[in-house]
Amino acid sequence: MKRALITGANRGIGLAIAKGLKNLEFEVIIGARDLTAGEKAAKEIGAATIELDVANPENIISAINKIGSVDVLINNAGILGSGGILDDPQNFIDSFAIMVHGPYLLIHHLVPHMIANKYGRIVNISSGYGAFAEGVAGPGAYGAAKAALNALTISISRNLPKTIKINSMCPGWVRTRMGGMNAPRSPEQGADTAIWLATLDKDGPTGGFFRDRKLIEW
Ligand SMILES: NC(=O)c1ccc[n+]([C@@H]2O[C@H](COP(=O)([O-])OP(=O)(O)OC[C@H]3O[C@@H](n4cnc5c(N)ncnc54)[C@H](OP(=O)(O)O)[C@@H]3O)[C@@H](O)[C@H]2O)c1
Repeated sequence: MKRALITGANRGIGLAIAKGLKNLEFEVIIGARDLTAGEKAAKEIGAATIELDVANPENIISAINKIGSVDVLINNAGILGSGGILDDPQNFIDSFAIMVHGPYLLIHHLVPHMIANKYGRIVNISSGYGAFAEGVAGPGAYGAAKAALNALTISISRNLPKTIKINSMCPGWVRTRMGGMNAPRSPEQGADTAIWLATLDKDGPTGGFFRDRKLIEW
């Protein structure tokens, strides 16, 4: 049975990814910064949970010490600011902590186990807002942070053995607290490409950026 850790999985797209992997017989660990919220979500789908604030490096290390190794890591936790990128320096710090530094540290700590086990799938939940091809847009520091997450995907892919795959994906516009209720896609639709990337076979792609299971421009 493969083990998957999904960050920010107590609600939204992360929870839909957790449910999808659970249905595929994965041992699923829901990472949640609020353990009570994580436990509630985990109970709903029969998963495990761990307290994991991805903006807190010490918390990342203690969570990994408890979990040990995983086969699949989904860097899903995210925040959306408001206004322009120059308006709120704290939003810049938080956005990069949650959507760039946290994912980097999780990958840094978990990849050695994946290398030892000769298997790993890493999925970075990005956004079209993080694509240079789509203008590096979105409120606050969101687009810049997702662009940096995409850059991590490419540069880390060059440092991994073939047995470990890392890809970015855009879920589309999804009905969650972040996406709002007018978004056209359900969380399950938003989760589909991430689940596909989490379950790629040995010949699957690595170092790519996907939406609807198709490569998109960086
Ligand atoms: N919805 C969309 O249309 C859309 C489009 C493109 C990309 N995305 C991306 O998809 C991912 C999931 O978004 P969503 O729409 O599901 O958003 P959401 O409903 O707002 O959920 C965000 C999740 O991230 C968690 N989170 C925030 N900061 C965290 C931290 N420091 N440590 C751990 N968890 C943290 C939240 O936890 P709390 O419950 O504790 O706040 C929540 O579980 C994000 O990376 C987002 O950027 C979404």
